[in-house]
Amino acid sequence: MRTTVGSLLVLLLGMVLDLHPRPAAAAEEGLVARGKAVYEVSCVICHGPKGDGKGLTGVIHRAQAHGVVIQLYPRDFTAGMFKFRTTPTGYLPTDDDLLHTITEGIPRSGMPSHQDVALADRQAVIAYIKTFSKRWQEEEAGTPVKIGKVPTYVSTAESVKRGKELYKKVGCFQCHGLSGKGDGPSSDTLKDAWGDKILPFDFTSGTLKMGSGAVDIYRTFVTGLDGTPMPSYEESLDEQQRWDIVSYCLDLMQQWKPQVVQQ
Ligand code: HEC
Ligand code: HEC
Repeated sequence: MRTTVGSLLVLLLGMVLDLHPRPAAAAEEGLVARGKAVYEVSCVICHGPKGDGKGLTGVIHRAQAHGVVIQLYPRDFTAGMFKFRTTPTGYLPTDDDLLHTITEGIPRSGMPSHQDVALADRQAVIAYIKTFSKRWQEEEAGTPVKIGKVPTYVSTAESVKRGKELYKKVGCFQCHGLSGKGDGPSSDTLKDAWGDKILPFDFTSGTLKMGSGAVDIYRTFVTGLDGTPMPSYEESLDEQQRWDIVSYCLDLMQQWKPQVVQQ
């Protein structure tokens, strides 16, 4: 009788603690191993063997392509901090966010597009880069910020005018400058979370790092770019004010790049 109760307890305990190896865990290990192989071919030169952003080019911080010098600051994955998210500030990005970054690359940064890498390999490398920071075991990714349809008043003269006032009032100009050239009064003093100098976006240079449509601009200042001085304005603006600021940003971009596509 005692043994029966004893073995039943062990069995129950085993079920609760899940002592048997799970097929899911084995599959995850396989995915991580595949991701490591992809990383070593496609990412290690910049992001480094330890995922700390100190690969070969990450140490040099400069690369030359087609006569243009690019400043290279590959992301340090050990911090578990990401700029390009659909999730609120302070939250981890979703797998879709990471897939977007890896697939499309990041314009103006040296982070290349990986459209030529098979989808399953891009998914595996996501599992692998998550092993560099404990955050991924301790926290869930955030829930993407909801963005409604672009209102019809976006880019109307009245909306641009209201947006211009707000751009000054809430302080965008402090960094991005009154003319949007990224030359505001604070622009020279900005550093990112890793202590590297960082410049505010120059609207006249056109391409945003995470997409250049109305929705992308909206997302940038609602979620903020974690690890950079670019703040989140999630709490401080109402819906119309947000879209008015988008109107003004698009206007700044169009003054110099008339071919910018609006969503
Ligand atoms: C030629 C150098 C280079 C290579 C190769 C490269 N990256 Fe990057 N990566 C960068 C740079 C530079 C940044 C930082 C861009 C920025 O902050 O604007 C970056 C940023 C990132 C980010 C952070 C995005 C965020 O939201 O903060 C991820 C994720 C990433 N890279 C994944 C990868 C993966 C996975 C590979 C390989 C498949 C790879 N990178 C290959 C240079 C590179
Ligand atoms: C304290 C300085 C600061 C303030 C204030 C600020 N930004 Fe930024 N912003 C930055 C920096 C720095 C970057 C560049 C980040 C990078 O390249 O990684 C940036 C980038 C951007 C980008 C480009 C994102 C991309 O994908 O390339 C947009 C759009 C933007 N900011 C809009 C705004 C708007 C709108 C406001 C006001 C509501 C604002 N910013 C306020 C510092 C600031």
